[in-house]
Amino acid sequence: MSHRIAVLPGDGIGPEIVAQAVRVLQALDLPLQLEEAPVGGAAYEAAGHPLPPATLELAKGADAVLFGAVGDWKYDSLPRELRPEQAILGLRKSLGLFANLRPAVLYPELAHASTLKPEVVSGLDILILRELTGDIYFGTPRGVREAPDGAFTGLREGFDTMRYAEPEIRRIAHIGFQSARKRNKRLCSVDKANVLETSQLWRDIVIDVAREYPDVELSHMYVDNAAMQLVRAPREFDVIVTGNLFGDILSDEAAMLTGSIGMLPSASLNEQGQGLYEPSHGSAPDIANQDKANPLATILSAAMLLRYSLNLSAQADRIEQAVRTVLAQGLRTADIYQPGDTLVGTRAIGDAVIQALK
Ligand code: IPM
Ligand code: MN
Repeated sequence: MSHRIAVLPGDGIGPEIVAQAVRVLQALDLPLQLEEAPVGGAAYEAAGHPLPPATLELAKGADAVLFGAVGDWKYDSLPRELRPEQAILGLRKSLGLFANLRPAVLYPELAHASTLKPEVVSGLDILILRELTGDIYFGTPRGVREAPDGAFTGLREGFDTMRYAEPEIRRIAHIGFQSARKRNKRLCSVDKANVLETSQLWRDIVIDVAREYPDVELSHMYVDNAAMQLVRAPREFDVIVTGNLFGDILSDEAAMLTGSIGMLPSASLNEQGQGLYEPSHGSAPDIANQDKANPLATILSAAMLLRYSLNLSAQADRIEQAVRTVLAQGLRTADIYQPGDTLVGTRAIGDAVIQALK
């Protein structure tokens, strides 16, 4: 039986990094059926919408989606519903991709690039689990209106709604505990329960779910403190579970600790095990089409795809090992280069990974 993979390269460096991940997947000689479609600004140009129906249908029918990146400053003046970012938000919502796994791993060879001192950060390996289909990202009502009453009556006000339903919190909490179980058995739930109603409910439910996982050590942290602890002593974390907005912010912060956002993959999973896999970084239009971008985050995302959606862990291990081999060989794209390394381009890194698979 062959596995269907929707390949959505997107904008900026998306196409060139996805091309390398596709080559790596093809080199494994697995029964994969790869089908490509436009997304983001590229789809807006081609079809007038960042997530055209044909792209969405392809993604829905696939076992997994390999996604590049979307966005470009040139779309900044479009109305929000036509901006490239709407494609990824639409895919998350339409496919029910509620569980976003964002590992932050420091590769020993790249320790120099971290913003933190080696003694604080060496060996860092944490997992940020971000809830991805709820929260203020999708809560309604939202909009801009004339302020109804109070000091600003008659003036424009913008408003969003932070909202979490109990089952949404429960299911991400379960994934949090299960992920911790496979790692170092520590789960830190991050919220703002001292201020927000949604966070108080979040905390109550996480505590309730914890009763099913007595072997996992649970802690709670307010998000402001979590942001501070991440730069003070990041290795004290194992798995962090948090909501959509806090997870967006903390995962960028954690990525920077590894000094190499070009190395970090991500997986977004639904209840059926279908997943969307994308690098944690963006579309970097400033370096697009120059053979400069680091494709390793996307290649590692392809490894997560094999592991989580296709159950091919041994093949995922092969890719991850090949990436470590390439780093050990001293090959570096510009984002992680330092004098003494061998500076190479996007395609050459892809070649090296494929070579190292053998
Ligand atoms: C991310 C991105 C997206 C988000 C944007 C592009 C909508 O920042 O995947 O973290 O905010 O979730
Ligand atoms: Mn983000």
